[in-house]
Amino acid sequence: MKKIRLKLLEFICCPDCHSELSLTEKITEELIQEGHLYCNKCKDYYPIIDGIPILFKAKYLTGSRFKESFEKSGTYWTDLNAKLYENFRAKLVTRLFGGNIFTYDYVKDAIEPTANLLDIQKGDTILDIACGTGLLTRPLARRVGDSGNIVGLDISFDMLRYAKKYAERDGLYNIDLIKGNAEYLPYKNDYFNGVASSGIFPSDLNPSKTLDKMYRVLKKGGKLSLGAGVQCKYQGLKIRLVRKILDILTKIFNMRIKWIKQDELVRLVETAGFKNVQYLHLDGILCIVKGKK
Ligand SMILES: C[S@@+](CC[C@H](N)C(=O)[O-])C[C@H]1O[C@@H](n2cnc3c(N)ncnc32)[C@H](O)[C@@H]1O
Ligand SMILES: [Zn+2]
Repeated sequence: MKKIRLKLLEFICCPDCHSELSLTEKITEELIQEGHLYCNKCKDYYPIIDGIPILFKAKYLTGSRFKESFEKSGTYWTDLNAKLYENFRAKLVTRLFGGNIFTYDYVKDAIEPTANLLDIQKGDTILDIACGTGLLTRPLARRVGDSGNIVGLDISFDMLRYAKKYAERDGLYNIDLIKGNAEYLPYKNDYFNGVASSGIFPSDLNPSKTLDKMYRVLKKGGKLSLGAGVQCKYQGLKIRLVRKILDILTKIFNMRIKWIKQDELVRLVETAGFKNVQYLHLDGILCIVKGKK
């Protein structure tokens, strides 16, 4: 699993001009670990490091508050964050913003329902955007089976390194990981059977730009399942308090976290072109929005 599978070349493209990419090295085996992908139109090279194609350009980071840390590591989701993510950070944050502070289980209560809503068939190809360390990627990989394929995209190389490690630990070999930006998806149009994402909002991403790209890469009839945190109508005292604290921290650290209102997220998903859009409240601020192309 350290290597990329050549099947990837069927559906990845240059994030800038959407032209096909070719491998610069002559490949004799099915898999490659290090090398370069080349866009003939832009005359640009994209490296493959540890089997992870870096389909990403520094110019996408213009204006980011985190430019400095981005330049060093690609994101502020750095190694320490990645190391602590599954056993500590994801649990803590979702217990604060989700349901019961002692019993809320992010995987069982939020991730599994997000995966279920895609109605996955064996053999499907599903894209997991902002896959992080793979909390959603791995349940998706189990559902599509060996004949299927999950593509995990994240901006953080450190998060992806852990995603790879955990997938190997669980014996899942149907996952391809790519470093890229959700606003500049490096995939061809109308390709995936489903697009999933969890924990992508609230963030500093432009929601309508991101949703437009999700729509573009989905096949006609393909499904979207988007797990997110929103400003919803069911906010208890604990959540209002946690949000106040977070607002203060966001100001102090000058972070660009944009909160989206529940109705606004639904409207944005519809505006991107999705049909049959439904909002499902999970617990606390957590919800899933589903739709169909
Ligand atoms: C809260 S984590 C969610 C990870 C995983 N989906 C989960 O539910 O556990 C948010 C992830 O979004 C990624 N991310 C942030 N901005 C991104 C962008 N512009 N493009 C792709 N991924 C991004 C971060 O690197 C991080 O891994
Ligand atoms: Zn190009």
